[in-house]
Amino acid sequence: MTETLPDARAALIDAARDAASRAYAPYSGFHVGAALLLKNGDVVTGANVENASYGLTLCAETAAIAKIANEGWIGELAEVAIVGGRPDGDALTGGEPVHPCGRCRQILNEAAERSKTDILVHCASGDGSTMKTYRLSELLPASFGPKDLGLID
Ligand code: THU
Repeated sequence: MTETLPDARAALIDAARDAASRAYAPYSGFHVGAALLLKNGDVVTGANVENASYGLTLCAETAAIAKIANEGWIGELAEVAIVGGRPDGDALTGGEPVHPCGRCRQILNEAAERSKTDILVHCASGDGSTMKTYRLSELLPASFGPKDLGLID
């Protein structure tokens, strides 16, 4: 699988939005969901998990990548969708796409290199009005990863 068709991409963004509803974000009030599309079509999600220490917060992307790594699927990643915003009832607000933070770009890169794929990263706004799609290499140029330690053929 190299790239999702529009319907599948919309489903991936919906999965990220659904995951955001399960965020634990009492400090920032900013709910983020990430949906990872695996090469076999399965979708694995994560949401941000905040902490009273603030600095120990886990981002949605990191939570989702930990799930696939723990299942032995770190080399199976194809695409990612990210949605974030402040909840208003069941909906999320915010008209600007949410981009992965710097740490998450590095965490995503680990799985992308292991998957031998310059993955697509779909960044959607909370209100669903805008989305931008990138290759991970655009978001994290000149990356350092497993290839630099001789772990990739
Ligand atoms: N957050 C994510 O979950 N992913 C990102 O890539 C950016 C930020 C979360 C962390 C924190 O819980 C909240 O958004 C506000 O920064």
